Amino acid sequence: MKTTLVVNPKGGAGKTTLATNLASYFASAQLPVTLMDYDPQGSSLNWLRLRTPGGPRIHAANAAPGKFGQLRSFEMYVPPDSRHLVIDAPAGCSGVLLQEMLDRSSTILIPVVPSMIDLHATTNFIRELLAMGRMRRGSHIKMAVVANKVRRSMPAYAPLQQMLDSLGLKLLARLIDSDVYLKAAETGAGIFEMNPSLTQAERKQFMPIVEWVTGEVGLADAAAQADMVCDLARSRAA
Ligand SMILES: Nc1ncnc2c1ncn2[C@@H]1O[C@H](COP(=O)(O)OP(=O)(O)OP(=O)(O)O)[C@@H](O)[C@H]1O
Ligand SMILES: [Mg+2]
Repeated sequence: MKTTLVVNPKGGAGKTTLATNLASYFASAQLPVTLMDYDPQGSSLNWLRLRTPGGPRIHAANAAPGKFGQLRSFEMYVPPDSRHLVIDAPAGCSGVLLQEMLDRSSTILIPVVPSMIDLHATTNFIRELLAMGRMRRGSHIKMAVVANKVRRSMPAYAPLQQMLDSLGLKLLARLIDSDVYLKAAETGAGIFEMNPSLTQAERKQFMPIVEWVTGEVGLADAAAQADMVCDLARSRAA
């Protein structure tokens, strides 16, 4: 099982958006997936409740702290056939809880909104992460940054690139600020489960994340081809 932690202590960076859409990609690709919510706000679990019954299945695991030990470990159960575990971290997470999430994870995704305030908070967090024993050279944990809510008027943001250069990290993907993500959050769907012709740009931008997490390249081409087949079928039916 591959475990991906989506984390940034800064509120509203896009953790839940990334976690739910990644989980929905796996579900729509028929890969057994569990979405684990560490956030007491339960945004990912609420999204799961909105999903259409009978659609691609995502197992829900509730890891929010504050419950008695027995109950928490029961609700955190991950079915053994899960190929992917996606963890949605809460805002402001640190200390023991952060360590617990890191201990479970092989891959860390850090969404960041390209703005000075968000970058500052995120840089400090990444520095802390890199200093932690589990993240030192030689550990098999991998980490990448995703720019989220990128404005069409400002596709590149120099301070973000400077931050990445100073930390020795690469930008994995840029996700545009798009109503499609709001719609997905409202309906319990993911961009890979929505009308391909309305979500083409968002899917294309998201695929480097999927490829990096799975370690499989060429998925973007396969997804684009599937979209073309879908569009062709749609235009024939019309
Ligand atoms: N790329 C995007 N385009 C448009 N809206 C977005 C995008 N990413 C996130 N949002 C919206 O921004 C808000 C915050 O995103 P999200 O809930 O994913 O952040 P978060 O990091 O999980 O927040 P929190 O720290 O509160 O858990 C949500 O309303 C979400 O739908
Ligand atoms: Mg969230």
